[in-house]
Amino acid sequence: MGRLRKVLKWAALVFALLFLGAQAYRPDRTNPAADERKAMRANTQMTPEVEAVLRRSCKDCHSSETDWPWYSNVAPVSWFLKSHVEEGRRQLSFSEWATYPKRKRERKLHEMCEQVESGEMPLKSYLPLHPSARLSEEDKQRICDWTRQEEQRQPETLPAQGDD
Ligand code: HEC
Repeated sequence: MGRLRKVLKWAALVFALLFLGAQAYRPDRTNPAADERKAMRANTQMTPEVEAVLRRSCKDCHSSETDWPWYSNVAPVSWFLKSHVEEGRRQLSFSEWATYPKRKRERKLHEMCEQVESGEMPLKSYLPLHPSARLSEEDKQRICDWTRQEEQRQPETLPAQGDD
């Protein structure tokens, strides 16, 4: 039994050192500057109810307005969070909405409804620590009613489109 204890002790020590060493690799958590004129909410007829749902369930990963929680400072969690936010923003950023051409906007609106109806969004890993992001059937309906209407009324260009 003495031997097992020794092994466990060493394992704990190695683990602790790896954990500490990992803290040196701290991803940058600053949010990119957001121009309100390019925001989805400024370029669509978004109802306050829809805005509230997107804010509570999506914007941490799909906008430049991420609230980084304290544990986003702790590796290896920080690495997962950072990559989710980067990938989420890359696929769809509410803050960069006005830079998308019409076809892309229509497609993203369509995808938003599909992703929430199929339960793929918000990402499951987000929910345990953000229980209020969970969507009710009513929330999903609200998003889809809105995205369907919005898809029908996308203009060819948006006022802030060519501004970068
Ligand atoms: C914890 C981060 C996170 C949250 C919260 C989140 N997403 Fe995502 N989302 C991602 C990531 C990462 C991807 C890309 C990888 C994938 O599809 O799984 C993605 C992909 C998407 C896509 C796919 C875009 C495309 O064109 O294929 C849509 C649409 C989307 N999310 C909508 C939403 C909506 C709507 C919400 C809120 C109800 C939401 N997401 C919440 C991280 C998130």
